[in-house]
Amino acid sequence: MSKDEILRLLRVSTTGYLSGAELAGKLGVSRTAVWKQIKALERDGFRIEAVPSKGYRLTASPDRIVPGEVTAGLGTRVVGRELVYRAEVVSTNTLAVELAQAGAADGTAVVAESQTGGKGRLGRTWVSPSGNLALSVILRPAIPTHQAPLVTLMGAVATALAVRDAAGVPAGIKWPNDILVNGRKVGGLLTELSAEPDRVRHLVLGIGINVNMDRSVLPSGFRDRTTTLSAETGGKVDRTSLLRELLRQLDHWYRRLQEDAAAVREAWTGLNVTLGKRVAVSGAAGIIEGTARAIDAEGRLVLSLDSGSTVQVAAGDVTIIKKA
Ligand code: BTN
Repeated sequence: MSKDEILRLLRVSTTGYLSGAELAGKLGVSRTAVWKQIKALERDGFRIEAVPSKGYRLTASPDRIVPGEVTAGLGTRVVGRELVYRAEVVSTNTLAVELAQAGAADGTAVVAESQTGGKGRLGRTWVSPSGNLALSVILRPAIPTHQAPLVTLMGAVATALAVRDAAGVPAGIKWPNDILVNGRKVGGLLTELSAEPDRVRHLVLGIGINVNMDRSVLPSGFRDRTTTLSAETGGKVDRTSLLRELLRQLDHWYRRLQEDAAAVREAWTGLNVTLGKRVAVSGAAGIIEGTARAIDAEGRLVLSLDSGSTVQVAAGDVTIIKKA
């Protein structure tokens, strides 16, 4: 029996209370062993009241991710079956790449309380203090290399749905992989690929979500375009529930991707905030302005230009100008 198991049982108790005898029975240990673990949880910063004839009740938790609480009863088939937790890391993506190269299993999730060198797209830095969510998942999909960009789209679908479910806010996706709430960025994805010409060896899908961070830690140029789940909801958002929901959504959509990639594109289209808009895309070829029409089978953005021609863009930064 671990402290984490007691925590999980207290959290899911319908009345809020569980007696020492009930906990002991469910875990197959003595009431004294339960009492010792309750005391250990209190030392870890959890507040647990003990009411005679009712039992124990969890009244406050430190804002910290507890790996055992994330995985208990998670029920995923692949994603999150192995969970690597670190209080602090340079970048969960970097650690996940190392673990992938050393043979870590498909679906292994790496989560950290904070990152000292979080990586964003296009070589940018990702500010990642504790209170946010930093997750990287090692994936070994049975897909051809040219379909690898669909993994990022799949991750964006899973992230937007998990954010909607866990925080109750209208999250949408801006191509290729920004998660927006009310027009501001709340999360982003960074995929790192290791592949042969015709087959993916492994991918690391990195997901960062601004959850309870204070926005004042951001460089001023980013602050206005960025939001957090706590700013959107007006209260702290439970990161354990968000992470559990995210792992479940990833597990589901990862399976869908390998069965029927079109289903992922359809879900992405339903959640996107880019298509149908007039956009400027800045990428390797400079800035292209046009109307975002679709994403193609390889995840590229299809733009119609004022000249009447159509172009597909594989990578870049999108600014939404207005409705087309
Ligand atoms: C972006 O630029 O929008 C992508 C941000 C991706 C950040 C996440 S946080 C977890 C993972 N580890 C990293 O170093 N980056 C990704």
